[in-house]
Amino acid sequence: MNRLVVISNRVAVPKARGVAGAQGGLAGALNAALKDYGGLWFGWSGQESEDRTGNMNLQRSDGVTTATIDLSSRDIDEYYNGYANSTLWPLFHYRIDLTEYENETGKGYERVNERFAESVMPLIEEEDLVWVHDYHLIPLGERLRARGAKNRIGFFSHIPWPPTRLLTSLPFHERLVETMLAYDLIGFQTGEWLSSFFHYCETELKADVDQTTGRITHKGRTAIARAYPIGIDWDHFQKQGKTDEAKDAEKRLLESLRNRTGMIGVDRLDYSKGLPERIDGIGRFFDQHPERTRDLIFIQIAPPSREDVNSYQKIRAVLEQKTGQINGARSEVDIVPIRYVNQGYSHAELYGFFRASKIGMVTPLRDGMNLVAKEYIAAQDPEDPGVLLLSDFAGAAQQLDCDGQGALMVNPHSPDALARAIQTALDMPLNERKSRYEAMIGTIRDDNVQDWTNNFCSDLAAD
Ligand code: G6P
Repeated sequence: MNRLVVISNRVAVPKARGVAGAQGGLAGALNAALKDYGGLWFGWSGQESEDRTGNMNLQRSDGVTTATIDLSSRDIDEYYNGYANSTLWPLFHYRIDLTEYENETGKGYERVNERFAESVMPLIEEEDLVWVHDYHLIPLGERLRARGAKNRIGFFSHIPWPPTRLLTSLPFHERLVETMLAYDLIGFQTGEWLSSFFHYCETELKADVDQTTGRITHKGRTAIARAYPIGIDWDHFQKQGKTDEAKDAEKRLLESLRNRTGMIGVDRLDYSKGLPERIDGIGRFFDQHPERTRDLIFIQIAPPSREDVNSYQKIRAVLEQKTGQINGARSEVDIVPIRYVNQGYSHAELYGFFRASKIGMVTPLRDGMNLVAKEYIAAQDPEDPGVLLLSDFAGAAQQLDCDGQGALMVNPHSPDALARAIQTALDMPLNERKSRYEAMIGTIRDDNVQDWTNNFCSDLAAD
């Protein structure tokens, strides 16, 4: 088996493993992928330093070497806060209203991609499979090729791919997408994002696209694009669920609920997650059913994310205001209907919290996949499972709707629809909860992260 070299902006360095902060699903998934393959994981340390000597921090643990570099404050500003998270992230999540079109940050993005290529190139060996992840590093494959890399190089987009008419609002969009065709294999989370990508390549690049095989031929090169829906690390998560930490967390939450029904959401504090809209839906539910304030508690775990980016500061303020308003209006001395928590928790604790909550709310406005949806179900007691309320706009909906018999699907934009779905979930009889759980659990257990890694890597290794 070839050695695997994974390159992503965010790296879960050994000391941070197992501790869920605001890192999102990607770092956890890559951790699992590398555990099986061994190999190297390269990326940004998350640290700022003005050191330009190219110093790298190398650590080895469980057969995986992590190699990280620091970035200067200007690089962080232009590449991470700027082009990646103020331009590409909002645009790819259909938020053209939040997208900043700054040419300077685009240059910083290219500069950091070049720096990544320069730093990682000496670590890449001839037979390595190289797998680059996410929107921070779209041009990296081309930069590696320019430095002579002959390896099989793949790219995975963990976020949605926007419709062509949105993407064309980005200056130099052709250049950005053309760099993607330097990869041998390009992966997306769902068929929906893959179709949008094909459409762009056909209509804007005038590439020759064979949608059946995924082959895209453009300017003499051929790349293959396919959908590979990511899964959770099932075995690891179940192991976490058996720990005292998970059991204590479940007990702690249940005791604090004092026989009231717990409803939970766990999301990075990001506008794509639909958090203010979710709170509006809950507010609507309490308006319609004031008596339920006494027996329903909503727990929102929302670790802050990308705090130097303006739109994130704004969404946090909006969320806090809405939560405060509902709690102010609906609380009593011994009852607070919404518990809003900014800290992150370990996987074991989340397992316990999910199991203690009869409703899981995953209602993003747009999401590449969303692994919380899968984890919520994976943590349920098969004999008395909770109900997953899932947005139609999460990539996970394509697997978990199960022809209307899986998750309870909801339009996250509509407070009325959310309120109705909460009511349906609360009233759902045990046999329906069980049958919905049964419909979803197979794909969550079997189409797991190991499967995802193997599928992508074997296609990448194949000529
Ligand atoms: C999403 C992205 C990842 C990112 C994660 C956390 O899942 O697809 O690439 O690592 O969010 O965001 P952060 O900016 O903290 O890395």
